[in-house]
Amino acid sequence: MNQASDRPQSYAETFVNEIFPSRYKTGALAGERYTSADFYRREWEAVWTKVWLVTARTVEIPEAGDFVVEEIGPESILVVRQEDGSIKAFYNVCQHRGNRLVHPAEGSMPSFTCDYHSWVWGIDGSLLSAQDEEDFSQGNPCGRVALEELRCDTFAGFVFVNMDPDCIPLKDYLGPVWDRWQVYPTEKMVRVQALTVKLPSNWKALHDNFSEVYHFATVHAPFLDYLEDDFRSLACEIFDQGHTVMHMKGALPSNRYLTTDAPPISEQLAGELRRWDLDPADFADRPTETRRALQVQKRKLGPARGHDHYAAMSDSQLTDSHHYTVFPNFSAGMLADGMLFHRLRPHATDPNVSYYDVFYYATGDDAFSGMSTAKGGSGGTVEDAPREYLEYGERSLGALLDGDVGTMATQQKGLRSRGYRGGELADQEYRLAFYHHMIDRCMAGWRPGQD
Ligand code: FES
Ligand SMILES: [Fe+2]
Repeated sequence: MNQASDRPQSYAETFVNEIFPSRYKTGALAGERYTSADFYRREWEAVWTKVWLVTARTVEIPEAGDFVVEEIGPESILVVRQEDGSIKAFYNVCQHRGNRLVHPAEGSMPSFTCDYHSWVWGIDGSLLSAQDEEDFSQGNPCGRVALEELRCDTFAGFVFVNMDPDCIPLKDYLGPVWDRWQVYPTEKMVRVQALTVKLPSNWKALHDNFSEVYHFATVHAPFLDYLEDDFRSLACEIFDQGHTVMHMKGALPSNRYLTTDAPPISEQLAGELRRWDLDPADFADRPTETRRALQVQKRKLGPARGHDHYAAMSDSQLTDSHHYTVFPNFSAGMLADGMLFHRLRPHATDPNVSYYDVFYYATGDDAFSGMSTAKGGSGGTVEDAPREYLEYGERSLGALLDGDVGTMATQQKGLRSRGYRGGELADQEYRLAFYHHMIDRCMAGWRPGQD
């Protein structure tokens, strides 16, 4: 036994050592988890209404009255900047007769007027005026009725909300993620790309995909020149709170790629080496040393090039993909100078449809380096990109993301088959199994913060 043998196992360790092999290797992921309206309804109540959910960035609502509306399953959430600089979140519903209050996805208003009977709501949720207020024999609703507020907090420049009034604080919910992300300058990053895609699949299908890289060699083959997908070289962690992280070596050709006839240093990798004043020709005979050489060079040249945050980063964080999943619907590829934000949101009623938000944030001129979503992207003007709303297959999302979403429609069809036996998982897919296990725990009555 190792040195940890004299302490009790964490829940995550118990999962890896006992629960995963005994309960999740074979047959645990029945298709109904992805297709059944009854499962969707129970999952909504047990999971979605009890967890912290990421919404907009704080920089999107800088002034009092600035707002964003986030649609999450059957709910619409109104997030508003207050006069004192704080942020509040409300259910986007008028308390007179239940009309949806705010229709645009974003904007700025001094107050919100319902378009049914013109009740006027302040940005703090108070009712400012009601038509014919003397006609309410139970008492003037102004001063008595307010918008229904949700718990709201911020982290890493993002606003999180929670529908459970008795939820644990966001910091406790995030656990190790809160500490690990302190090295990333997420609040200074700009939005380079923002796409929302309507998917013909359950929200969990794509989040499953982001919880494993077993699919990498098949659907991301063009990226094997830059990322090592071999499961023996991956370092994964799962946390008691339900979150996970996977460290995937980058800035070097994978062992799989090196068995092909292609030049050992691809154009993608050569470009990254040149940007850091390294000569790709020097690595032709030792291609797997590019990662280490880039780490050294980034340490040396980074500060003078404005990358002050490198000082707090590990060598791995300078070159590798550190991919986090934050329970239940958020994942983020954390890179030295960028963040690939993925969020899945359920459709209001249909378990066979979901919405995928993929936003790419980056610091300064490194927006298009290494692992950007547009493979081979060669620089450009960094701007706060407007959000685009797309139908599935409407256009390419970039080589990397096309691979990830490409099978969603056909997998959903397969998951509906009575012939599907509920999965047969590889050991390396245990992050995915942990995610489903946490959903199962919630549906059995567990709440975040409980042992
Ligand atoms: S429902 Fe909003 S004012 Fe009547
Ligand atoms: Fe992928």
